[in-house]
Amino acid sequence: MRSCAKLLLLLTICASGVSTLNILGVFPFEGKTHFFVFESYLRELAKRGHNVTVISHFPQKSPLENYNDISLAGTTSLLENVFPIERSYATVIAIGFFLVNTGTANCRVLLSNKGVQNLWKTKTKFDVVVAEQFNSDCSLGLAYKLGAPVVGINTHLLLPWHYERFGIQYNPSYVSFLLLEGGTKPNIYQRLERTILYTYFNTLYKVMCQRIDQNTLAEYFDDVPPLNEIAREIKFMLTYTHFTLFGSSLLPSNVIEVNGYHVAEPRELPDDIRKFIEESQHGVIYISFGSMLKAASLPADKLNAIIEAVAEIPQRVLWKWDQKTLPGNPKNIFISNWLPQNDILAHPNVLAFFSHCGLLSTTESIHHGVPMLAMPVFGDQPGNAAAVEESGLGLQIRIAELTKEIIVKKLKTILDPKFREQVKHLSRAYRNRNVSPMDSAIFWTEYAAQHKNFTYRSRSADVPFYQYLYLDVLVILLSFVFVVLIILKTVLFAVMKCIQKSNKNKKE
Ligand SMILES: *[C@@H]1O[C@H](CO)[C@@H](O)[C@H](O)[C@H]1NC(C)=O
Ligand SMILES: *[C@@H]1O[C@H](CO)[C@@H](O)[C@H](O)[C@H]1NC(C)=O
Repeated sequence: MRSCAKLLLLLTICASGVSTLNILGVFPFEGKTHFFVFESYLRELAKRGHNVTVISHFPQKSPLENYNDISLAGTTSLLENVFPIERSYATVIAIGFFLVNTGTANCRVLLSNKGVQNLWKTKTKFDVVVAEQFNSDCSLGLAYKLGAPVVGINTHLLLPWHYERFGIQYNPSYVSFLLLEGGTKPNIYQRLERTILYTYFNTLYKVMCQRIDQNTLAEYFDDVPPLNEIAREIKFMLTYTHFTLFGSSLLPSNVIEVNGYHVAEPRELPDDIRKFIEESQHGVIYISFGSMLKAASLPADKLNAIIEAVAEIPQRVLWKWDQKTLPGNPKNIFISNWLPQNDILAHPNVLAFFSHCGLLSTTESIHHGVPMLAMPVFGDQPGNAAAVEESGLGLQIRIAELTKEIIVKKLKTILDPKFREQVKHLSRAYRNRNVSPMDSAIFWTEYAAQHKNFTYRSRSADVPFYQYLYLDVLVILLSFVFVVLIILKTVLFAVMKCIQKSNKNKKE
């Protein structure tokens, strides 16, 4: 039976024309939700017969065929329940330093790991390296040393420093800035805000992240080119967006939208949760603020506003909450510090999702067609929440707006059957693909390995700035106009002189 399955696999691989590839995944960031997305893709690569080696903080719990871990676990504390629920410029600025600190620390962890060092010492051959595009380009230095083409992958909208390397024009008037509000339709204040912060983040990335990582790499290798340059050699970028959610954007052909591949087939719900959902006559609202936010940091008045608001509507509430109890122990609310989110959202009785709008939650919500009440807190959440409202998937609510009246009003809007019908339609459009996002992600990974001698980068990444702004063309056109004007003027003068002369002659 087993060998039969293997034969079948071999046949499929042969039919697709791709032989078994040696693939290295480099994921030195300790964010659990990031890796949760990548893991489904890495496991699928292994399942399809490729020899996958994965450097991460999250080794497989039980061995998986074709999947080899190089574990970084235990070198850093994982990010869970660490961020406060508040929003201010101070937190946005602080995110910059958080990214610098974790990115540069992870570079040192990566390169000092014996298993990783073994790869370059034994000159292990890889057909392709898959590297997370987040807060460090350290893995690009490693890929350079291993001589393998790179595929970039992420779990959010592009970060400010990722536009330039792929030649994507960043324009604050229509390109969503993930860390700030405004989506693709910012007002003048938001455009000003994102212009300043875009510069802040890009500068911080160049002068801190890249410079420090470059120095760390130099401790191990003496010939790694500037990270900024090798970043431009990335073959393909698998970005976790989709136009039905974030709107149509201007992306080069080598930046591929693959949002949705992590969403698994729903499984059977645990009995207590299934009963709670199915015994609710008017359906259920699901509340979760993800795994990174500290629930206890929600101020008491805002917490009470949510509890009082959901007491006013007939739906029951399932709430992922990291505390043992809620004030007043409300009967209509089921709390647990762990809930199978994807399976819950897949249940037809779940009618709304009150969320911090992380991209995993947003993706699962649009996949299952569950209207969202989006309360962004930090990171990419403001960009996602703007997309939720613009696409019609739900409504936004600010932390500052958390009063009983506003919550009730917004929940009633998204619980309206007409609203839900619209969201179901959006969800069908989202899931209707010519190629599944998983197949697409894997196809372009294999493609990069098979055709690594070409560059797929848009010419816009290489064109000099003066050409991009047509400065040379303008100079030539203006010179031409200038010359024509001079000629006209000379001719005109000559003609006028002639006329004057002949007039004079006539008078005499
Ligand atoms: C799979 O990759 C590992 C590197 O992690 C390598 O040691 C091993 O030889 C590879 N296996 C095959 C069959 O290529
Ligand atoms: C890719 O380029 C290398 C180095 O120039 C060359 O040796 C190799 O044959 C090329 N591969 C293909 C498939 O053209």
